[in-house]
Amino acid sequence: MMLSAEDKKHIKAIWPSVAAHADQFGADALYRMFLSNPQTKTYFPKFDFHKDSAQMKAHGKKVVDALTEASNHLDNIGGTLSKLSDLHAHDMRVDPGNFPLLSHHILVVIALHFPKQFDFAAHQALDKFLATVSAVLTSKYR
Ligand code: HEM
Repeated sequence: MMLSAEDKKHIKAIWPSVAAHADQFGADALYRMFLSNPQTKTYFPKFDFHKDSAQMKAHGKKVVDALTEASNHLDNIGGTLSKLSDLHAHDMRVDPGNFPLLSHHILVVIALHFPKQFDFAAHQALDKFLATVSAVLTSKYR
């Protein structure tokens, strides 16, 4: 999947607003994922799944910060997230089918907070961005 120049423009326009709320937006997206897709909880033993728990916010911030890093290197997302890709494939062994789930919940959270900016083009660009990151994070399984 290739991000067009237009896609990159939309991602760069909206992402700083997302990055400014990394812990809250990340926690919201994770909470929605654990609620709607409870099978994803199996990867997080001893996790406090309550809304806005300290762990939820800390992990949410890590996820959004990684996406911020990717948004700053849109021409080299693979190289930028290479170590994270190793972790998800070899250490956490997350089933690749879970990535579209988390991506969906991240999209929902952004749409809720920025309804005006989240027009058709921004939606499409963010969808492609998250799919590209997911492809990178699931690229090391074989
Ligand atoms: C947009 C996709 C994702 C991004 C950007 C992302 C990002 C991250 C980051 C930055 C970390 C911390 C790595 C470290 O400690 O160095 C992490 C850890 C982890 N991720 Fe992901 N992740 C994504 C998707 C997923 C999905 C879909 C799952 C499973 C449902 C998952 C499960 C985990 C687990 C179990 C850990 C380790 C948590 C811990 O014990 O600290 N990730 N992820």
